[in-house]
Amino acid sequence: MKRSYSKEVQKAKLGSSVELAGWAATVKVLGKIAFVKLRDREGEIQLVALNKKLINSLKDLTHESVIYVKGKVRESKLKSGGNEVELQKLEILSKADANLPIDMSGKIPTDLSKRLNWRVLDLRDAKKYAIFKLRSAMNYYVREYLQQNGFIEMQTPKIVGSGAEGGATLFSLDYYGKKAYLSQSQQLYKQMLLAAGLDKVYEIGPTFRAEKSHTMRHLAEFTQFDFEMAFLKDENDIMHVIEDMFVYVLKKLNAHNKSELEKLGLNLEPPKIPFPRVTYETALKLLAKEGIKIKKGDDIGTEDEKKLGDLVEKKYKTKAYFITKFPFGIKPFYIMKDGKTYSKAFDFEYNGEELASGGQREHNYDKLASQIKEKGLNVKDFEDYLNTFKFGTPAHGGFGLGIDRLVKNILNLDNIREAVLFPRAPERLSP
Ligand code: 4AD
Ligand code: MG
Repeated sequence: MKRSYSKEVQKAKLGSSVELAGWAATVKVLGKIAFVKLRDREGEIQLVALNKKLINSLKDLTHESVIYVKGKVRESKLKSGGNEVELQKLEILSKADANLPIDMSGKIPTDLSKRLNWRVLDLRDAKKYAIFKLRSAMNYYVREYLQQNGFIEMQTPKIVGSGAEGGATLFSLDYYGKKAYLSQSQQLYKQMLLAAGLDKVYEIGPTFRAEKSHTMRHLAEFTQFDFEMAFLKDENDIMHVIEDMFVYVLKKLNAHNKSELEKLGLNLEPPKIPFPRVTYETALKLLAKEGIKIKKGDDIGTEDEKKLGDLVEKKYKTKAYFITKFPFGIKPFYIMKDGKTYSKAFDFEYNGEELASGGQREHNYDKLASQIKEKGLNVKDFEDYLNTFKFGTPAHGGFGLGIDRLVKNILNLDNIREAVLFPRAPERLSP
């Protein structure tokens, strides 16, 4: 079979012969004429049957069955114009059960949870295809940018002996009779690889957190893009990379993925570089002016973070910015302090949502050991990691960016679950 995609029919010569395969999205038999809409990954195409035998065979065709067809390209008589295919042959390759569990026409809205229960059917839709083609493209452009800039891709263990981001969200498991955990972050390994002399590393990989609450932006399993580089001056070097890469990705999407963006009704505007740097203290002041009081040292909650996004957008005319100089008290043990109370940690915000956290790391053995203790953690649990810092480690820093959140926010999706093929969250372990 020389299979063409539906969209190729629009460019094919009138009268030429084509072979297509896909799903029967709609079937309408109207006496002497019948119409089938065939859906494939690249779109939909109208098929017309005029011959009696073919029309008869369509009476058996259920929605969502897989079909193979052969026919001639002709001009469509529909108002929308374009080409259609006059059927010469139709084979049902795989018949679908007539009782579809969700409405596939888009006419009756189905709630997200039910759609996710039937994710394979739910995905058979031009908009969903667009989301995951764009997600694939974003991963590709991120990799392209990093490879061009001398970064080495790493794959680090996902079964680990200690957590990097605090005990509250660790999934534990039995590892040959010992307690182990699913990796919460590539953090400790990427730092160890800089001590090993790799200089610039990154990983795009699965990350697990036993989040307790149901939110629109947290998953129990997500894809983290982790990045770390050595021989830097301070955390500003990391922020430069993020803004440059973020704009690179948006420009690439605009240049190469217009049709998918159009399917989602999106018009991306790459933000201007440099993105504003708003210190934690300034953020609190901006919020206080609006009557939102956050005690110095406390974290900025989700609602206040959204509000802050609006205030920054009003002031600086951009959706992309950094919150810098966070208090050490609300950041992990490995971050470098900046004075007594503050740290060299930042968050990258877009659309009023945190996409990444990063900063410069503490690379002095004694200071790092004391920071582990200060956070109430046990130095013994971090022995291998900590030993690294005894034997020569350059100044370094990096960030972790949630790919799922990146997709959600660039594509303006309401819920992070829509950015993931088979999401894992407290309420969901299947499909
Ligand atoms: O802010 P987080 O916890 O930072 C780290 O993991 C550090 N090791 C990063 C670093 O290099 N300093 O996580 C980083 C990002 C978040 O900004 C968010 O985009 C995403 O990972 N993320 C989640 N995404 C979906 N579901 C969850 N439960 C997430 N937790 C974090
Ligand atoms: Mg964070």
